[in-house]
Amino acid sequence: MQEIVVATGNRDKLREIRELLHDLPVRITSLADYWNPVPSIPEMGNTFSENALQKAMWVFGRKGQWVLADDSGLEVDVLGGMPGVRSARFAGEGNGSEANNRKLLELMAEVAPERRTARFKCVVALVTAAKSYFFAEGGCEGMIAFEPRGARGFGYDPLFVPAGFTQTFAELGPAEKHTISHRGKAFEKVRKHLHEILG
Ligand code: IMP
Repeated sequence: MQEIVVATGNRDKLREIRELLHDLPVRITSLADYWNPVPSIPEMGNTFSENALQKAMWVFGRKGQWVLADDSGLEVDVLGGMPGVRSARFAGEGNGSEANNRKLLELMAEVAPERRTARFKCVVALVTAAKSYFFAEGGCEGMIAFEPRGARGFGYDPLFVPAGFTQTFAELGPAEKHTISHRGKAFEKVRKHLHEILG
């Protein structure tokens, strides 16, 4: 069975990716299967695509296996698109999601409901050979809530209300999140591509 290494140390992301690809004939592994401790791969790019490719190539260059890398984040309009590619490190290196969410809520404390628009974006890079890349992207429009709600999901999920819903991503179940999420949409394209190349 074809192995694909997912270039992430983020367990929540890995769980979602496994769910999204569960019916494909591939064996999903991750950095934790190859490294202890799990390395933090440098992300120097200014775009999700640059970072996704950088992460995928970092692993491909060392292991020579097929690699998938997801770079994703939240763009908030009133903050000029921040935190964007810095979503994981918004409240500083080493601070977790709670600190990121607190910082976002503080910055938006005075922002009226109609100006709280935002979107999640996800770019996935699949590398199958030294010069063989496939990119897929997905987005999900929504609003930033005034307080965290829900216990599911990860990251900014308790603050993100997808367009057309009243619940946050953290209140929706995984299946519902996957049908509308940035990652769900990007991975639908990855699934189709993998179906084609795996035959
Ligand atoms: P990356 O590992 O550099 O791609 O960082 C992605 C960061 O964006 C995560 O650590 C989260 O903070 C945020 N993020 C990406 N996708 C999601 C999601 O589906 N829900 C909540 N937060 C997300």
